[in-house]
Amino acid sequence: MAPAIAARLSHGFSLQLQSDGSIAASLGDYSVNLGRFSEPALNRAQDLVTGLPLESFAGRSVLAREVDALVRRLARHGLLEYRLSAPRGRQDLVVIEPQLADYWPQRAKLGNRDLVVLSRFAYLRRRGSEMVLESPRAGALFRIGDPAIAATLAALSQPRKISTLDRAASSMLHLLELLLDCRILLKLDAKDGHGLRLDEGDGHLVLWDFHDLVFHTRSTEGRQANPVGAAYTYAGVVPPLPAVRPSWPGRRIDLRKFSGPEPNCPFATLLRERHSTRDFDDHNPITLGELAQFLETTARVLSEWKSDPHVDGAPEVAYSTRPYPSAGSAYELELYLTVINCEGLARGLYHYDAGSHALVAINASPEQLQAQAMAAQFAMDAPGQPQILITIAARFGRISWKYSAIAYSLILKDVGTLLQTFYLAATDMGLGGCAIGTTNIDLFAKITELEFHVEGPVGQFALGRGRTPLVSS
Ligand SMILES: Cc1cc2nc3c(=O)[nH]c(=O)nc-3n(C[C@H](O)[C@H](O)[C@H](O)COP(=O)(O)O)c2cc1C
Repeated sequence: MAPAIAARLSHGFSLQLQSDGSIAASLGDYSVNLGRFSEPALNRAQDLVTGLPLESFAGRSVLAREVDALVRRLARHGLLEYRLSAPRGRQDLVVIEPQLADYWPQRAKLGNRDLVVLSRFAYLRRRGSEMVLESPRAGALFRIGDPAIAATLAALSQPRKISTLDRAASSMLHLLELLLDCRILLKLDAKDGHGLRLDEGDGHLVLWDFHDLVFHTRSTEGRQANPVGAAYTYAGVVPPLPAVRPSWPGRRIDLRKFSGPEPNCPFATLLRERHSTRDFDDHNPITLGELAQFLETTARVLSEWKSDPHVDGAPEVAYSTRPYPSAGSAYELELYLTVINCEGLARGLYHYDAGSHALVAINASPEQLQAQAMAAQFAMDAPGQPQILITIAARFGRISWKYSAIAYSLILKDVGTLLQTFYLAATDMGLGGCAIGTTNIDLFAKITELEFHVEGPVGQFALGRGRTPLVSS
């Protein structure tokens, strides 16, 4: 008998019928309204506390469709996990924790003759007192409840035919099909597949090192379910480090005697005046002319050139020169502008073509633009939306083609140089801006239809005309 996949409410949540007839999922004071459903649907859904088999609402009856709608709504709010258990078994063999908002357990069919291997991005690790199987490419992570399953997974470090695997429990095949759908497992071409780097995905994926793709997906929003941002998780365990490092005890040379009391040059003044602006004047927005000047000053391609292949034996590569420094002159960073309020430029998403100094419109729905703008406002804890949100995206392969192991860290350093360039240019022009530390890489991928490992956000900058502070009398 086949094992069952059942949807289960995230730990501690319960479902309640509200006085207005709607259903809410709640945990303590926290409550998520799910809309109106019938009482029979709510009664059925109570099984979500222990696990409601997906098959039980896969039919076409009115009740099944209603339960399906309720369960999918819970899934989109990130309130579900899925358990895989042996038929009538009480033990969770595996629990699936969605990492993408639209994850739904699907089985990609496998037959006895199929050759499979673990993805080189898959990893098994201890989390608390559990063993979890993860991959930055997967829409979900898998909590492994049975050590025998971990042993079978370990055997899949080499390509194996399904028929040769220990499938004593048919749940293993179910699990492998779920893993294949999540790209934690690969199906290889029986003729020439060896599970090597080139067999997995496209040329862009070939260039990613394991640690870089894990870092990218786990340090941004959109492809992981962990909380992101200032959570002060260990504040009660470890005190904060001091704002300024305590001095070393050695001999001191007091530099104030040499540098004078205050620096006195335009550049030093610009550095001192630079600050983050989170509150923008919506009655007096940035103009298209100012935006053009800002982009010209900070990001325009100044010249293009080619490396000399005879000098260091490296292949000939095309390069460009731009106003900010970039590791290896790669200039892998691209600017995508979410224009919310700019005089002379319609609301929308634009790519800055740095080579020809032009903005190119990209189709994006009003809801997607709103989602980007609201996330930026939230990240800045700002009273309103920025006038322009610049998403700095990386063409990852442009830099990883040359550098292994340090590629992603170089990209982040390049983002730092560009952010300071933006800050200084904005200050010099009498505009305001603020760096934003987190970005939703899944939202960007959906808007642009660019796969997240090909080109995606690595930083953001809010730009506009700052509101003049009220002078108190
Ligand atoms: C990499 C980076 C990420 C930042 N992320 C945020 C952010 O998400 N939200 C925010 O309000 N400010 C953000 N800031 C702005 C800092 O909070 C700010 O630079 C710092 O408080 C110093 O203030 P100042 O810029 O006004 O001198 C970020 C700055 C940098 C350099």
